[in-house]
Amino acid sequence: KFEGLALTPPMGWNSWNKFACNVDEQLIRETADAMVSSGMKEAGYTYINIDDCWHGDRDSLGFIHPDPKRFPSGMKALADYVHSKGLKLGLYSDAGSQTCGGRPGSRGFEFQDAKMYAEWGIDYLKYDWCNTEGLKAEGAYKTITAALRKAGRPIVLSICEWGDNKPWEWGKEVGHLWRTTGDIYNCFDCVEDHGTWKSWGVMQILDKQESLRQYAGPGHWNDPDMMEVGNGMAVNEDRAHFTMWSMLAAPLIAGNDLRKMSKETVALLTDKEVIAINQDKLGIQGFKYASKDSVETWLKPLDNGKWAVAFLNRGKAPRKVSFDWKNTPITDDFSKKELNAAKTTYNIRNVWAKKYLGNTKKAFAGTVPGHDVILLVLGT
Ligand code: DGJ
Repeated sequence: KFEGLALTPPMGWNSWNKFACNVDEQLIRETADAMVSSGMKEAGYTYINIDDCWHGDRDSLGFIHPDPKRFPSGMKALADYVHSKGLKLGLYSDAGSQTCGGRPGSRGFEFQDAKMYAEWGIDYLKYDWCNTEGLKAEGAYKTITAALRKAGRPIVLSICEWGDNKPWEWGKEVGHLWRTTGDIYNCFDCVEDHGTWKSWGVMQILDKQESLRQYAGPGHWNDPDMMEVGNGMAVNEDRAHFTMWSMLAAPLIAGNDLRKMSKETVALLTDKEVIAINQDKLGIQGFKYASKDSVETWLKPLDNGKWAVAFLNRGKAPRKVSFDWKNTPITDDFSKKELNAAKTTYNIRNVWAKKYLGNTKKAFAGTVPGHDVILLVLGT
């Protein structure tokens, strides 16, 4: 794979969660414009990723082309436009014969497809796993990795295999991020079974990440799926979702309509202090330290000895929470980082409230509303 990419979790936007198959060049141009005008670019978002259904047919030589009705100017022109805004363009394909949406897949055309993507100026590829009868996941993903390398353009590879073949065990050498679950949908704490395909609520996806944290780090991330912020959940639920994706060092790929965002959605997605937790250069995925009633306490070691502390209330009723720093040291089994209030007096920042709360000589106490979070950063 291309090394040196995605050293912090990738940040961007993807069309699928909101638009599914309804993608065209106008949407992509307007989304790039909105990423700049909303302040998202300034906050660190870079990738504009077109998901399924951009494809037209293969030509007589087997090269893929975009749907001429939806992308009449062609992919190269679109990539030039996105690049002119200081952003990067991503595409989607599938390891099988067809994409999940029934468009041409890359099976048997991997090297030709990678060559086209490189010629167009594509920067990111999400590679799906529908219609892959007889293929072995690790091998199939290695084929596209080799093809991208051969094409020569640095492209982030997003493995979209839904966790069935344990991509966390082999993905580090193959791609830059791998999906750990089936598809997210905009529900906070629910599972929807569509028969053959399960959609996961935000909190069920969160549960799945806990056991996988040792696999994540700079250049190779667990991907708990693209975000549903701004897609219909309550603002407090969106805040909890965005906070937990930040605590998980998850890719921050927005999945909403950037052209029509409420003030609250923009404020959440562009919060620099929360993004800094996600983008922390150590790249340590946070862990669940405690769970009591409906409240979970999550910790994430940060660079320079700082720590992020999130109190997540998964229940609907408000809950009192407290943390007596005398109950430290706490040592993270994985990173061996130590939170030790006896040795260090940390100042306490309430990140969403934008307030300093004194220091860790005194226990912290607060109330978390239902389906919401309190997020602290302990600074040194
Ligand atoms: C399944 C993936 O998990 C989704 O994120 C999306 O890419 C669809 N396929 C597209 O068909």
